Amino acid sequence: MRIDVVTLFPGMFEGVLRESILRIAQEKGLVEINLVNLRDFSTDKHHKVDAPPYGGGPGMVIMADPVFRAVERLRDQGRENAELVLLSPIGTRLTQRLARRLARASNLILLCGHYEAFDERVVEGLRPLEVSIGDFVLTGGEIPAMVLIDCVVRLVPGVLGAAESLAEESFAEDRLEYPHYTRPQVYRGMAVPEVLLSGHHAEIEKWRREQAEKRTRERRPDLVNPEGKE
Ligand SMILES: C[S@@+](CC[C@H](N)C(=O)[O-])C[C@H]1O[C@@H](n2cnc3c(N)ncnc32)[C@H](O)[C@@H]1O
Repeated sequence: MRIDVVTLFPGMFEGVLRESILRIAQEKGLVEINLVNLRDFSTDKHHKVDAPPYGGGPGMVIMADPVFRAVERLRDQGRENAELVLLSPIGTRLTQRLARRLARASNLILLCGHYEAFDERVVEGLRPLEVSIGDFVLTGGEIPAMVLIDCVVRLVPGVLGAAESLAEESFAEDRLEYPHYTRPQVYRGMAVPEVLLSGHHAEIEKWRREQAEKRTRERRPDLVNPEGKE
């Protein structure tokens, strides 16, 4: 998979892309992540990419032209079939299901906003999939893009070692994961459930399934109730 990230702040990605699973996925050659500085596509001599909103009001708006030029350059470089994603608080909510869909793409282009918004003609003309990471407003699309990259990349086949660790994770089957315990057996008076020490695999599996279902019912009834599902 190849991911191109169009951003005004490429430096924000450095630590995140150089650590843990994202570093390993890139080292294994399973994912290539390319940071594209939107300012490089400004035709202004000061590399400006934003301007005040028509109609007045606070803040600045990212002009359409540098964004079109950046996306067209990437498409000319062979990413003409890339899935174009624009990070936006008014977008479709990022879920594990959407992450699974995006993980099947061979190319993603992520557009990170900043300031008030993108000029709406970016949406009208480029028809990106607008994706939100939740009902709150962040300063820019960089952190949402990192969230999306992290949850998509760990679903790319071969990125995680044990395939079963993915199958049992929260949301894999519209339910939350069961609780985990490790050494010691008793910690500050709290004991590990007996069944986990029994060595009886069928019983352990049954307990875990029950715990996962109980947690899901208690904490996320919307996942159980089909009405609540997206
Ligand atoms: C300060 S926000 C703009 C908020 C916008 N004026 C509004 O009220 O909806 C700047 C940029 O951050 C990104 N952003 C902020 N919150 C986000 C969220 N919850 N999900 C995805 N992107 C977000 C978007 O790229 C957005 O263009």
